[in-house]
Amino acid sequence: MEERVISGEVSDFDERFEQSLRPQFLSQYIGQEKVKENLGIFIEAAKGRSESLDHVLLYGPPGLGKTTLATVIANEMDVNIRMTSGPAIERPGDLAAVVSSLEPGDVLFIDEIHRLNRAIEEVLYPAMEDFCLDIVVGKGPSARSIRLDLPPFTLIGATTRAGALSAPLRDRFGVPLRLEYYDVAPLKEIVVRSSGLFEVAIDGQAAVEIARRSRGTPRIANRLLRRVRDYAQVRGNGSITIEMANEALEMLQVDSHGLDHIDHKLMTGMIERFRGGPVGIDTISASIGEESVTIEDVYEPYLLQIGFIQRTPRGRIATRLAYDHFGYPVPEHNDF
Ligand code: ADE
Repeated sequence: MEERVISGEVSDFDERFEQSLRPQFLSQYIGQEKVKENLGIFIEAAKGRSESLDHVLLYGPPGLGKTTLATVIANEMDVNIRMTSGPAIERPGDLAAVVSSLEPGDVLFIDEIHRLNRAIEEVLYPAMEDFCLDIVVGKGPSARSIRLDLPPFTLIGATTRAGALSAPLRDRFGVPLRLEYYDVAPLKEIVVRSSGLFEVAIDGQAAVEIARRSRGTPRIANRLLRRVRDYAQVRGNGSITIEMANEALEMLQVDSHGLDHIDHKLMTGMIERFRGGPVGIDTISASIGEESVTIEDVYEPYLLQIGFIQRTPRGRIATRLAYDHFGYPVPEHNDF
């Protein structure tokens, strides 16, 4: 079976595994210092006034902890959290069913909020602004609108593409927060913390190596850690040393930048077939057989971040750094 080290989609098993590692409070949440500082103040202020927290929009690439942070916010506010997602809310009645079960101050978490359809957005606006819901019941001439009062609640929306949100929806979030890729130091801390929760011994050097190859993403760091732990258990004595980590990561085909075979296919495809670009996202998508949205949401953001791809008005180009990393001579024509 094909080994997928990173992926936008998360299996049930990975999901449960990650749940067990998730921090519950801000004090346990590593990294995203700016976001934590802001949230800490807004949470304390709302609690001080005995009010619900203003609506929060969390945006950024997958795997950086948007769902985790939503749970942390609910725990800090000492309220319940109801979780749903944009695609799961198909009709206004679906939204009505969720919001009408909320208690005062509760958090409603909507993942992939950019995938809500416009009809639902319309119902959401008064719910966010005035805590009421206008629902049309019946059909034809006998149709009428009824207004439901809701308790004050906090909507936490999460999205990988803030740009895909309609402006009126985006503007109704009082607290927009952008999650950034993690540096190696906080990722190392996360790896050490998770190893502690697994009761597995790990060298500092090994933790750094896993962190370095995790594409700035805690979800990937925890997944690599789990696989390195398996390797160390079978091939070693269970402790994660730098040798064990390197051998396991080699076996998993995760390179020194944490790039996997799909990144390789994408970058070498751009270099070999399109002379490094400029090339459009749909052309890249067709040539490597990955969906454009997956490339845009999952693969490209990190490749942009590490400077392997540049976006230009005429399309994407592979940079000199990418040519060097993948061992291709830099072509003369390319002025980057
Ligand atoms: N596990 C996953 N993400 C984490 C984070 N930001 N802090 C602590 N543990 C984590």
